[in-house]
Amino acid sequence: MPQAQNEDRKKTPKDFYFMKIIGEGSFSTVFHAAEVENKKEYAIKVLRKRHIIRENKMEYVNREKKSLLSLGGSEAASRFFVHLYATFQDADNLYFVLTYARNGDLLDHLLRHKTFNIKWVVFYAAELLLALEFMKSKKIIHRDLKPENILFDKNWHILITDFGSSKIIGESDVIKKGDDTKSRRRRNSFVGTAQYVSPEVLHGEETTYASDLWAYGCVIYQMISGQAPFRAATEYSIFQKITNLDFTFSENFNLSAKDLIEKLIVTVPENRLGALDSSNYDSIREHVLFEETNWDDLGPAPVLSED
Ligand code: ADE
Repeated sequence: MPQAQNEDRKKTPKDFYFMKIIGEGSFSTVFHAAEVENKKEYAIKVLRKRHIIRENKMEYVNREKKSLLSLGGSEAASRFFVHLYATFQDADNLYFVLTYARNGDLLDHLLRHKTFNIKWVVFYAAELLLALEFMKSKKIIHRDLKPENILFDKNWHILITDFGSSKIIGESDVIKKGDDTKSRRRRNSFVGTAQYVSPEVLHGEETTYASDLWAYGCVIYQMISGQAPFRAATEYSIFQKITNLDFTFSENFNLSAKDLIEKLIVTVPENRLGALDSSNYDSIREHVLFEETNWDDLGPAPVLSED
């Protein structure tokens, strides 16, 4: 068979060695895999069709694919996202062939180090901001930004993953018949993870890019203190704390970071720093936390396994 045809042909599970389970979701399992032909490594997300259909989750699967494809271009900022290389299916499963993030996720490293030094915080807060700017340029709200969804590539740069909860602005939330709810237009029902969810998402109000800015503030807080800002024994108590903006800073909390977080974890979405910026998040770029950041070249990433 000629080479070109060979490359274009749809892959099948037989084209990969499935090695180890590296992640598990409610209707998917992620494997570390290698392509048989060239030994290239990937993360393959295997989504169980029966489960997706039973739970009416096809819309989420489609969104994840669409968002990943939209973020996966050749632009420089595409480097901050897991890339979707191929999709295929068999009778039981859908398969997403994704970038393999060799250095694990932010949550693991936070648990191991307890807290990050301020240089690491500034570096990763800056990479995250560039990623958020790029998502906005592609009209994508992630809606589930959290340390588990921030992975690291082999050079310790971030790779944002899990766009199953994402929303593409301009596309209505119209659900096909039989999907998800009986109503034709879904309210912005709660998606995401309790600890990082913004008040507007929690209360079923409209989600905007500023919902990701709330989560961004929560992630910066957690990189500094080792813990999410809103913590409680039950999901209900976490939601109450979010609604009441009930969070505190330790006495030794870095003051510049505290100032930025207080401007991001703000109840009214439009009042969050950056919410009214037109394209880039210039008002966040200009914050004192980033006074030594060169936005055109953030420099080498810290190596989190070394300190
Ligand atoms: N766990 C979930 N997704 C992953 C990925 N793309 N790379 C490594 N580990 C993962």
